[in-house]
Amino acid sequence: MRMVSLYSIKGGVGKTASAVNLAAEAAHKGLRVLLWDLDPQAATTFYLQIKPRIRGGVEKLVKGKSSWDKVIRTTSLENLDVLPASLASREMDQLLEKRGTSHLRQMLKEVRKEYDLVVLDCPPTLSHLSENMFTSVDALLVPMVPTTLSLRTLEQLQKFLDEHDLPCPLWPFVTLADRRRSMHVEIINNLGKDWPLRLSTVIPAASVVERMGVERAPVREFAPASPACRAYESLWSELHQRLQL
Ligand SMILES: Nc1ncnc2c1ncn2[C@@H]1O[C@H](COP(=O)(O)OP(=O)(O)OP(=O)(O)O)[C@@H](O)[C@H]1O
Ligand SMILES: [Mg+2]
Repeated sequence: MRMVSLYSIKGGVGKTASAVNLAAEAAHKGLRVLLWDLDPQAATTFYLQIKPRIRGGVEKLVKGKSSWDKVIRTTSLENLDVLPASLASREMDQLLEKRGTSHLRQMLKEVRKEYDLVVLDCPPTLSHLSENMFTSVDALLVPMVPTTLSLRTLEQLQKFLDEHDLPCPLWPFVTLADRRRSMHVEIINNLGKDWPLRLSTVIPAASVVERMGVERAPVREFAPASPACRAYESLWSELHQRLQL
């Protein structure tokens, strides 16, 4: 079971859109995927048409005492299940403070054989939740809009990981890109120099991604031939290779 998270300290950079579309691509290719919504905003949960509810409550979930067949929800997409969020998910941060490292991974102990891949959608915070996530995942996928401030945020995150001795690899990728803007093009072309572990696929800014909120589905379900869907497919294929799945 590989575990990756979509994470950035920055809000509104495409974490949720990327989590949902990457999970859908992996499931489409035949992997058994669990998409874990860790954000009380529950946007991933909404996109997959699941009720924002953690059956049995968050505390039981963190203690690993939930009944998994109730908490984990199937979706209309083959191979794709969701562990939903709700407003109550905000309690997870405090509950994780008292837990050891990698607890998020350990919470899934009982279902680890059921999934090839777990994709986490995280809130844009630096908290006990994110610190625990850093020790639980195989890699951090960091979506970034190609601007100077985003580069700075990446550096801050890397510095935090280094200072706290967290060896979790950071794999940035560009999203919401507009190749008509010279700054976007420049940053896209130079990203590999400072960030050799970046994923090279660029996700364009595209209205089909915004439509996910209306369709309540990954782009593959309603716009499979769109450039954005192709880009997510290619991003998944890069990731697939790196994770050696
Ligand atoms: N490639 C894209 N093209 C166009 N719009 C996009 C793209 N990716 C995301 N968006 C839109 O940008 C907004 C923010 O995206 P998203 O919710 O995925 O970001 P986020 O990083 O998860 O935000 P938050 O920090 O609030 O959780 C949404 O309205 C979404 O539809
Ligand atoms: Mg989000």
